[in-house]
Amino acid sequence: MTTQTGDLRDRVADHPAWYHSIDLADGITTPGFCDLRPFAPEALPDAVEGLRCLDVGTFDGFWAFELERRGAASVHTLDLADGTQADWPPNTRAANLADTAASGLQWGTGFLLAREALGSRVQRVLGTVYELEPSWVDGPVDLVLCGTILQHLRDPVGALERMRGVLVPGGELLMIEAYSAPLTRRYPRRAVAEYRPVVPGSRYTWWLGNLATLRGYAATVGLEPVPGAKPVTHRPLRGAGKGDRVVALRFRRPA
Ligand SMILES: C[S@@+](CC[C@H](N)C(=O)[O-])C[C@H]1O[C@@H](n2cnc3c(N)ncnc32)[C@H](O)[C@@H]1O
Repeated sequence: MTTQTGDLRDRVADHPAWYHSIDLADGITTPGFCDLRPFAPEALPDAVEGLRCLDVGTFDGFWAFELERRGAASVHTLDLADGTQADWPPNTRAANLADTAASGLQWGTGFLLAREALGSRVQRVLGTVYELEPSWVDGPVDLVLCGTILQHLRDPVGALERMRGVLVPGGELLMIEAYSAPLTRRYPRRAVAEYRPVVPGSRYTWWLGNLATLRGYAATVGLEPVPGAKPVTHRPLRGAGKGDRVVALRFRRPA
């Protein structure tokens, strides 16, 4: 093992909490809470080469680094600077903030370490999606990736409106979001969601809807389904509620 590899291994091990499993170098993988690596080949469109991309709510940056690795022309990420700006339900906000402080995790440090280790050129933007503007990402982009963020927002439709606003006409919004499988089975066509702040044990989620809810959010802000694109469902994420699943859905801003 070289000193450099040993160094990186120590820095990865010393990081208080990894959200994503990311392959860095020399067999070093971040010990993520959430391993999306097996899902990426099915979830991402085949052709991202040459596209200008934005990954909203990037956390440790798994999706952003994947887009870069697959040949995107540029990748921006957007995230909050810290938990004080998170849109958590008022009844759990204090406990969530206390847990974040106790974890010793400084938001964004995992992303920065992974970016350095990968020699990545992904550009980091700090701010809330509710205020996102094209100028934050050097002008409109071809692809916005919206990854498991909508359930954490009080106003998911307002956030999607902002995401649509940074897309070029014809540009794609890739939603990789949580949904309720039981509500989808029961209501295949009607948009129905469960209000989670009053569900015991739920701390970070506002609404968890069925697939029709996710499609309805997109339709509300003027995004249309990409013709022929099928939903791709991932196995349950760690820590997910019973029946909660993650799905990749492709939409586009009409040309
Ligand atoms: C559950 S993580 C999802 C991480 C990653 N996108 C994925 O799909 O695995 C939610 C992310 O959204 C970010 N986030 C939450 N509220 C946000 C907001 N208002 N504006 C921008 N990012 C936000 C969080 O900081 C966190 O990085």
